Amino acid sequence: MDLLSHLTDEVQSGEALAEQFGVSRVAIWKQVQKLQQEGYPVLSEKPRGYRLLPGTPTPQQVSARLKGQLGRNYHYHGTVSSTQDVARQLATEGAPHGTVVLAEKQTRGRGRRGKVWNTPVGAGLYFTIILKPQFAVSELSLLPLMAGVAVREACGVGLLKWPNDLITEKGKMSGMLLEADVRAEEVHHVLLGIGINVVPEGLPEGAVGLGSFVPEVNRAVLFAEVMHQLELWMGMTEMAVLQAWRKHSGTLGREVQVQTPRGMVQGRAVDLDARGLWVETPEGRTCVTAGDVSLVGTV
Ligand code: BTN
Repeated sequence: MDLLSHLTDEVQSGEALAEQFGVSRVAIWKQVQKLQQEGYPVLSEKPRGYRLLPGTPTPQQVSARLKGQLGRNYHYHGTVSSTQDVARQLATEGAPHGTVVLAEKQTRGRGRRGKVWNTPVGAGLYFTIILKPQFAVSELSLLPLMAGVAVREACGVGLLKWPNDLITEKGKMSGMLLEADVRAEEVHHVLLGIGINVVPEGLPEGAVGLGSFVPEVNRAVLFAEVMHQLELWMGMTEMAVLQAWRKHSGTLGREVQVQTPRGMVQGRAVDLDARGLWVETPEGRTCVTAGDVSLVGTV
């Protein structure tokens, strides 16, 4: 019984659902419990019936809102280890460009540099997009910046912290993880993992939800908008991406500490390009190509 695809934002009685599937009300109730255990945000509103948490990004809700091609091949899960793991498997099995894996809950959600990304069910959007871009390895470094700009445009609030965190004065709203499979100088596929916090409550320390700034965020609408913006920005020139990134920057002009694989770089962030972030240090200007930025004087 595919109950999930029959549930909507509107309450339906157990009796009506039982009739649709030709089963008992108890069978419906058991199936609801199973879906809840799997991590799907199904609400049981006694005595009226069952519905989905409004804005749940089910395949039906998402496909009705997509404008382009990204996200058309959509895999919606309750719980997975990490959407990156599921997407990697699909990519190696030949999933097409633009395939998305979205989960309500991850038991081993990953952040950058080995950090953990833990979030409550229904609290945000956690997904991985499989990209099979037609460009060389040397052009890969622009992708995190494009993705940052796209998520900023879709959310409509926040500032970018290099390379693609979306932050606000109240904390971090979105983070991204890029894992590329490069074979013989060719980009075979890229797994672009995006986490966007939506609800204001229950998030880990230092995190903030878009709902703290925008009332009644609908996750399905937000997801479709992220897909639309990504498609748009992936078709833009390097100059346009850099310009947009600079416009939404919360990093440039600030004192930063960057933890790089080759040690700590400290100074003023002065610019960025496809090579990385340019930092003015007491020893001169240096380009940081990978690392974790802390803005000095903020969380
Ligand atoms: C960061 O800010 O450190 C990156 C966070 C990336 C989190 C997303 S949630 C969906 C995808 N699956 C994961 O395990 N991580 C990314």
